[in-house]
Amino acid sequence: MTAVDGAASAIEILRQRASELGVTVDARVADLEKDEFEIEESCWDLVAMCFYLQRSLFERAKRGVQPGGLVLAIVHIVEKGEEPTEHRLIPGGLKQYFSDCEVLHYHEGKSRDAAHKRPVAEIVARPAAREERRRSSLKLPR
Ligand SMILES: C[S@@+](CC[C@H](N)C(=O)[O-])C[C@H]1O[C@@H](n2cnc3c(N)ncnc32)[C@H](O)[C@@H]1O
Repeated sequence: MTAVDGAASAIEILRQRASELGVTVDARVADLEKDEFEIEESCWDLVAMCFYLQRSLFERAKRGVQPGGLVLAIVHIVEKGEEPTEHRLIPGGLKQYFSDCEVLHYHEGKSRDAAHKRPVAEIVARPAAREERRRSSLKLPR
């Protein structure tokens, strides 16, 4: 298992919790905006992006999973009347990024994590084979 975060403090917490649980994690500090970590293609069983929105990662995550693998994403979404931002998608927006995938779970609304007060969108999706995905044209939301 590999975990990535841009903040050394976050990675330190993760290493500590993993050690308490007896889980081995290759935990790395990397700025994803600066491509300091590359999601290797067709490499992973699962790519999870939790409470972190970087629109450019969705396609890379889909390419990163092995055939049959899954992508999980949880992002904040705007409330009624608000404009989308760098860190918040519009309602329905997350689903559009995965319109070329088999969607196994989708939820929009209150976060199940009490630490997050703002509404979220969550998805678990199985990307189709690459050729199939290439054929489907995507109209991506802001
Ligand atoms: C809301 S926290 C979520 C942390 C963790 N994924 C979780 O679910 O508990 C957002 C995380 O994104 C990290 N982050 C923000 N910008 C980043 C970047 N450019 N590259 C990598 N991580 C980044 C922050 O350091 C922070 O730990």
